[in-house]
Amino acid sequence: MESASQAAGENALLPNHIAVIMDGNGRWAECHGLPRFEGHIAGVESARSTIRYLNNKYHIKYLTLYGFSTENWNRPPDEVSGILHLFEEVIDEEVSEFHKEKVKLRHLGHLEELPQSLQQTISKALELTKNNTGLTLGFAFNYGGRTEILDAVRHIITEGIPSQNIDEELFNNHLYTAGMPDVDLLIRTGGEFRISNFLIWQSAYSEYYFTDVLWPDFNEKVIDKALLSYRQRQRRFGGL
Ligand code: FPP
Repeated sequence: MESASQAAGENALLPNHIAVIMDGNGRWAECHGLPRFEGHIAGVESARSTIRYLNNKYHIKYLTLYGFSTENWNRPPDEVSGILHLFEEVIDEEVSEFHKEKVKLRHLGHLEELPQSLQQTISKALELTKNNTGLTLGFAFNYGGRTEILDAVRHIITEGIPSQNIDEELFNNHLYTAGMPDVDLLIRTGGEFRISNFLIWQSAYSEYYFTDVLWPDFNEKVIDKALLSYRQRQRRFGGL
């Protein structure tokens, strides 16, 4: 099949910012007769290969992955601590490679509620990669979209900004994603049709791509399909 980048030629019509809700790890594990956590481990491999493929093949500029929502704290404590651990391990193992590939890491969400060692690992990774000019890779971890909007409102009030100065640009600059463009394409795996409080401001005009594929099975073929589908849509942003 013709890939999206071949079809588009010179990477025209590719999304600038892709956001992904990586759903279905638990079900994938169940399907394979494995404990749920094995699904998360397999999910990490999918995340690694997705990042590399979108960066190296399509040269996508911004990619945001939803790793852990503020609601995920309600999962069993063992699963929560396993995911936190896994996230720390991934950053530790990957950060120097990301740095070599000029990837700039961003953390979206509340850092201070995470375990100390994870906070330090994230902070070090952000510091190391902050001047990189390649792919900006956002990890939404301990992230909630409504909380992000409320945090922006609080900052604007704390800064004493007069109401007549508040416009979309100013508001954008107070979100966790300040400096990042709106989401062009939001992909959700795992067969659910909802956005679960993810980048709700930034995806106001996004195209959506929902697939039944479970996150650990997400691969280059599915990415190609999603990008081809994106390319075939007509975006009007409210115009004609
Ligand atoms: C969604 O599947 C997965 C999560 C909420 C856990 C976090 C994601 C990963 C471990 C993948 C990659 C992570 C990193 C750190 C790069 P689910 O558990 O909600 O699946 P289910 O809907 O089938 O139960």
